[in-house]
Amino acid sequence: MWQCPLCQHALDTSSTTWRCDNNHTFDQAKSGYINLLPVQNKRSREPGDDKVMLTARRDFHQTLGYKPLMQKIVQIIGAHFSEKNSLTVYEAGCGEGAYLRFIQKNLIHEGAVFTAGNDIAKAAVDMAAKLDKRGQFVVASSFSLPVMEQTVDVLLLVFAPGDHNEFARVLADKGVLITVDPGPEHLIEMKKVIYETPEKHSPPSASSGLLNIVEELPLTFSVSLEDDKRRNGLIGMTPLCWKLSEQTLATLHHAVKTVTADFVIRVWCKHS
Ligand SMILES: C[S@@+](CC[C@H](N)C(=O)[O-])C[C@H]1O[C@@H](n2cnc3c(N)ncnc32)[C@H](O)[C@@H]1O
Ligand SMILES: [Zn+2]
Repeated sequence: MWQCPLCQHALDTSSTTWRCDNNHTFDQAKSGYINLLPVQNKRSREPGDDKVMLTARRDFHQTLGYKPLMQKIVQIIGAHFSEKNSLTVYEAGCGEGAYLRFIQKNLIHEGAVFTAGNDIAKAAVDMAAKLDKRGQFVVASSFSLPVMEQTVDVLLLVFAPGDHNEFARVLADKGVLITVDPGPEHLIEMKKVIYETPEKHSPPSASSGLLNIVEELPLTFSVSLEDDKRRNGLIGMTPLCWKLSEQTLATLHHAVKTVTADFVIRVWCKHS
């Protein structure tokens, strides 16, 4: 499934050094991830989310704050692939890997489930690889995936950027792309503390020349923030909470006891 980021030939991944037939080599880091991001594609020294944001996200996900979303994703995958005997689930922009871990643990599937993901942040895949020894994690950009054509059954994109040309290229003919974006009411209670007139999220455009939407599912639920780890995690991982005054942050911590999680889940296929 993996391809060399330098010459696009298949990578032999049978040892801890991955190698293509042009002898480009990539060594596994101690935690198990592989860096497949060519230096020339690196736009900054440490691209992507940093350790503080990633730790906040891990804390939040460990309290299963978005469990209904994770369960919905598992249900969608199960419904689309009940009869396939081996399944490759790939997450672009996987962060610290919470969704893939949940899928591994909860997807009831007759055959083998192979999980893999990329993130532009080395710290993210390092954390993911340390906790998940079954999945494979690589440093790579979601705008240039180190993945061979038509090798992925389920491509997952949760609050992360990417390129539909690349998604269409790597998806198997009967594969699906599942995207998750914030819906209009997402975290509205926090926004009301921060802004006088909070703007509502509008999900990104649904048009794509290469992939067609076959399902669009809004999903809304309440998330209790009584638990400190969950509340600190959510505030730490949410961009609109970065750069706030001490006072606004304190209000957020004390006044917001429950938040609305509001998502738009879309399922895309190559052919309608
Ligand atoms: C909001 S986080 C979501 C992480 C994960 N999907 C989750 O929901 O827990 C977005 C992730 O995308 C990564 N990212 C940003 N730009 C990227 C790119 N060009 N290629 C791959 N990953 C990228 C960030 O490092 C970060 O981990
Ligand atoms: Zn190569």
